[in-house]
Amino acid sequence: MLIVLLIKYVKRRKPEKPTPSREITTWSGLYRFSKAEIENAINFQNERKSLGRGSAGHVYKGILPSGQAVAIKHINKSNMSDSFTREVEGLSRVRHPNLVCLFGYCIEGGEQYLVYEYCPAGNLAQHLLRKDSGLTWDRRVKILRDCALALRYLHHFIDGCIVHRDIKLTNILLTENLEPKLSDFGLAKMLGMEESKVFTDVRGTIGYMDPEYMSNAKLTCASDIYSFGIVALQLLSGQKVIELDLDARDQLTRKAKDVSMGKRPLSDFEDPRLNGNLNRADFECILQVAVFSVAKSSKDRPTIDTVFEEMDKAWKNTLGDMCKQCYSTLV
Ligand SMILES: Nc1ncnc2c1ncn2[C@@H]1O[C@H](COP(=O)(O)OP(=O)(O)OP(=O)(O)O)[C@@H](O)[C@H]1O
Ligand SMILES: [Mg+2]
Repeated sequence: MLIVLLIKYVKRRKPEKPTPSREITTWSGLYRFSKAEIENAINFQNERKSLGRGSAGHVYKGILPSGQAVAIKHINKSNMSDSFTREVEGLSRVRHPNLVCLFGYCIEGGEQYLVYEYCPAGNLAQHLLRKDSGLTWDRRVKILRDCALALRYLHHFIDGCIVHRDIKLTNILLTENLEPKLSDFGLAKMLGMEESKVFTDVRGTIGYMDPEYMSNAKLTCASDIYSFGIVALQLLSGQKVIELDLDARDQLTRKAKDVSMGKRPLSDFEDPRLNGNLNRADFECILQVAVFSVAKSSKDRPTIDTVFEEMDKAWKNTLGDMCKQCYSTLV
């Protein structure tokens, strides 16, 4: 009897584990800013710096009291309900060095804001599409390799595949060392572990959108591969995704396919701003992968694992070339 009573007493004394509230699990790791904090950050030293405007809202540079720079997205009233909650819920659980980090959010007085890590060098379009683009071959390969790495992380996310849904030049932001970070998970959608596909509303950016997804609204990881393929073709050619003043045969994907099949010389696809400073074998290899990635049918596209492997190979070759060049200048 004594032993039974003792066991019961010990059991009763064991403190119960606190069950986390829904608020904590859903918004984990994020700081909830007040509107006053947001306004102070945006109006730091009475200077308001706009970083750009997108479909979800206006983006401003902000400075926190600690001196840290951030990017603050003020969500359009029309976007409020869906874009905001989707983006916050998705990003709060996602952390990778090549993904723009979401620090916090603000919901107050009928306004919604997202506070992100600040990328001082802006977006990739601003660098690549400039007349005097200074993006060297090695930088371009590194950008592709790192974006593929971030995408591999999303597609193999522990809670189930995350489809980014809006990979494009303006959603690839750059640090001061021109390291890339994928941004904007507003359109991302969590897929259940067991599911490979989900039906959803068709959203994305013209030119980067998977044609199969556009026709049947079936969203899969392969749609991101298509958009990644377009970005890769742009980094090789320096071309815009659609150029209204060009013939059909000179449009990005058509030209890429013709060149990869040997119908046109490789030089037709080289960005003239590279001045021939590139590794031909890697250029061809990236072109092949990119052309497979933009296949009309999703089942003909490579997986992110294959894409990453190829980009990583190209990056290692590029590093090797750079070392050889350094060595020859030293000798
Ligand atoms: N974290 C950030 N750091 C620095 N600049 C940023 C950051 N986030 C966004 N920007 C800048 O603000 C601009 C607008 O961003 P936003 O994501 O709202 O639109 P977008 O990606 O250009 O277009 P869309 O809404 O069609 O996707 C970007 O193009 C980028 O140059
Ligand atoms: Mg964006």
